[in-house]
Amino acid sequence: MAEHTMRQQILEQFLADPEVILSGEDLSQRLGISRAAVWKHIRQLRTLGYQIDAVPSRGYRLTTQADLLLPAAVQSGLETISIGHRVEYFAETDSTNLRAMELAEQGAQEGTVVIADCQNGGRGRMGRRWSSPAGVNLYTSIILRPDMAPIQAAQLTFLSAVATARAFEAVAGIEVQVKWPNDILVNGCKIAGLLNELSAETEGVHHVVLGIGANLNMSREQFPDDLRRPATSVLLETGQTVSRVAFAQELYRQLDRLYPLYQQQGFVPIRLAWEALFYLQGRKVEVDCGADVFTGMVAGLADDGALLLDLEQGGQQVIYAGDVSVAD
Ligand code: BTN
Repeated sequence: MAEHTMRQQILEQFLADPEVILSGEDLSQRLGISRAAVWKHIRQLRTLGYQIDAVPSRGYRLTTQADLLLPAAVQSGLETISIGHRVEYFAETDSTNLRAMELAEQGAQEGTVVIADCQNGGRGRMGRRWSSPAGVNLYTSIILRPDMAPIQAAQLTFLSAVATARAFEAVAGIEVQVKWPNDILVNGCKIAGLLNELSAETEGVHHVVLGIGANLNMSREQFPDDLRRPATSVLLETGQTVSRVAFAQELYRQLDRLYPLYQQQGFVPIRLAWEALFYLQGRKVEVDCGADVFTGMVAGLADDGALLLDLEQGGQQVIYAGDVSVAD
């Protein structure tokens, strides 16, 4: 069994009864592993951020974080039409996007959401890692089954960006901006990232997974040292923590409103909402598209969500995918 699956099972033993104290022997019997292995997993869980106290001569107790993103908490008072009707929670997993893609392939209904307290293989754009410590942030993936051509699926990134931006504003009182195609920024520092994944064939989309990672209560020390670009969190911006449950609920409510709007009225209302938050408009940027690097002024968004760049040497470039850096 994978190491993280075992850690997940240990956490589930504690989460099933918040008051429970479990000895090494209890855990070893319940999970069919040695006491040494139990101890190793407990140590690893602690390094992931779980507070597991040793109760003398009785065993271990998980100090339940009040703000755990358990399905019952997230669904309580949610009142959405489709988003969040099913919530799959993982105390630890490799990536919520991977779990959501699996669930979608098994037929999970539209609006199913996956949440992890911690990801040990969080995926970012362009094969990068997404730092995902336990207990502080939101890592979630939402399954959609839109009736659309694969080419249109990129538009859903803009939809999830607007929903995420609105959740930051509503719950944390922070005004954020969006950077094409899928970063959420505060004062130029990244506070959330979006990674959509798609299963499709030429005729149409089977399902889309909207992956959203929002830095909420992450402290300075919890960010990796080797970040390519400056990053931040609600805690660092405001000095205050924010409820993860409240943030997740607001995000799902926003998606629940924007997705039907998109289905009924198309991309235009989403594009307009997104453009109002657009960080790059009129800025000089460099776009790394792998084979080519373009430099120019951002002229806006095309109707399909492509970035329009007025090139330094004249002419306009339409960019569908690339890594954008501000050059001014
Ligand atoms: C980026 O900006 O590079 C995208 C980051 C996306 C991170 C989220 S966290 C939830 C979901 N699961 C993942 O493995 N990635 C996305």
